[in-house]
Amino acid sequence: MVGSRAMSATLVETVEEPSPAREIEYCRSLEQGRILLFERPPFELPAAERSLLLAQRQSRAGYHKNIAYRPAQDRVTGFARGADTVRLRDALRLYSRRATEFAAWLLPRYARTWRLDLASFRPEEEAGRALPPRSRNDLIHVDAFPTRPTRGDRILRLFTNVNPAEPRVWLSGGTFEEIAPRFAPQALVDRARREGLGDRLRRFARAAGLKVAVRSPYDRFMLSFHHYLKESAAFQEAAEKSRLEFPAGATWMVFTDMVSHAVLKGRYALEQTFLVARDSLVLPEKAPIAILERIARAPMG
Ligand code: SIN
Ligand code: FE
Repeated sequence: MVGSRAMSATLVETVEEPSPAREIEYCRSLEQGRILLFERPPFELPAAERSLLLAQRQSRAGYHKNIAYRPAQDRVTGFARGADTVRLRDALRLYSRRATEFAAWLLPRYARTWRLDLASFRPEEEAGRALPPRSRNDLIHVDAFPTRPTRGDRILRLFTNVNPAEPRVWLSGGTFEEIAPRFAPQALVDRARREGLGDRLRRFARAAGLKVAVRSPYDRFMLSFHHYLKESAAFQEAAEKSRLEFPAGATWMVFTDMVSHAVLKGRYALEQTFLVARDSLVLPEKAPIAILERIARAPMG
């Protein structure tokens, strides 16, 4: 059921020269769980790069959900056989740079210490996409990365819908702040139950010389909360949902560890992720780690 509550987007009509006051206003909006939506492109991606991207397909190998670009290694993965990998890499590098320059210009406070994470291109139609349950994009969740723990730093994402005609459609079940009091306690109990076994397996793997990710309590919780939300019929069916359409050509920024989301339809989105340091936030008490520590009454870092 789609409720009447509109997903909280702040429409930015014109992007003016940033001032400290405007920056704080954008940070506050984002950290409270609003989406900054630019309906007109705030930076350009040339037509040649756009048409190259529209011709791409996803690799059929099950472990690649998107085409990913790693800025640190200047490397692309997940494209279909036969792709012109050099031109594809050049297009994604250009998007990643322009998106990063724009975000750093708009939000220098975050940019001073953020870590540049992956960029991605999402060429598949999301409606009816067959993915394993925990990878499904059409189930509402907050983001957590299995391979890149953040220890309480934040996941900020900048998306661009390069589809020439169709919107990208999201559904939200509210913010982490709204969801956590109701759903985090049960998820914490489930995690504690599963963790005994997980810890034994990790110790065994380490003893066998395997590289095992070391996750903070926060990262362990967020990853299991991501799975818990996707698997919880009670949460997925919770009445208050809101829908947002990102029109063709739109760009939007959002803390996806705060704003719950599912993507219902659309294809051809570009995205750049930034890991924003916890100590650069304007409202640190709104960070999921702070909310969680209040609920769990325990340090999670
Ligand atoms: C997601 O992060 O769940 C997917 C968002 C999107 O591709 O629009
Ligand atoms: Fe997500």
